[in-house]
Amino acid sequence: MKPLKLIFISNTGNTRNFAENLVNYAQEQNQKNPDYPLLSIEEISEQTDFGNETEPYFVSVPTYLSGGDGTGDNVKEVMTTILGEYLDYHDNAKQCLGIIGSGNKNFNIQYCLTAKRYSKRFNVPFLADFELRGNDKDVQRIYEDMVERTKEVNQ
Ligand SMILES: Cc1cc2nc3c(=O)[nH]c(=O)nc-3n(C[C@H](O)[C@H](O)[C@H](O)COP(=O)(O)O)c2cc1C
Repeated sequence: MKPLKLIFISNTGNTRNFAENLVNYAQEQNQKNPDYPLLSIEEISEQTDFGNETEPYFVSVPTYLSGGDGTGDNVKEVMTTILGEYLDYHDNAKQCLGIIGSGNKNFNIQYCLTAKRYSKRFNVPFLADFELRGNDKDVQRIYEDMVERTKEVNQ
């Protein structure tokens, strides 16, 4: 299988840390069995020059919301909007195979809400979620989800 690709955004380093752990895990799996794909990662920020995505990829987005009353209504996405703009750029969303959400369960109903909103807005599956930096089990589970999803679309 071709290497997988993950595009992410990270403000305080949690999502970056998770993405790097995923790269290492993919490498370990690939060394055991070359049928398991490697993973490349790409961080998006306000400084990124937009380009056209021509190959399938996944997205990992943490949740930053402001305002609202804790019900999830009327809250506004902050800090991550550039990733939404990137998905919205030309046909980029069409190549996206899945959105991985992260956040903090203390936010209750708003947990991973940005990923859920992106899923609806861009019509891309909400693939998985993890809290903060994720743990080893999250890395393993989400790598497997990405591999399965890639196989599914290649059938
Ligand atoms: C101002 C602020 C607002 C946040 N709002 C939410 C939220 O609405 N829902 C949620 O699940 N997590 C929320 N979080 C938690 C972050 O999504 C979480 O810390 C995430 O791991 C940050 O990822 P990053 O370090 O890659 O930027 C919020 C964090 C901050 C600092």
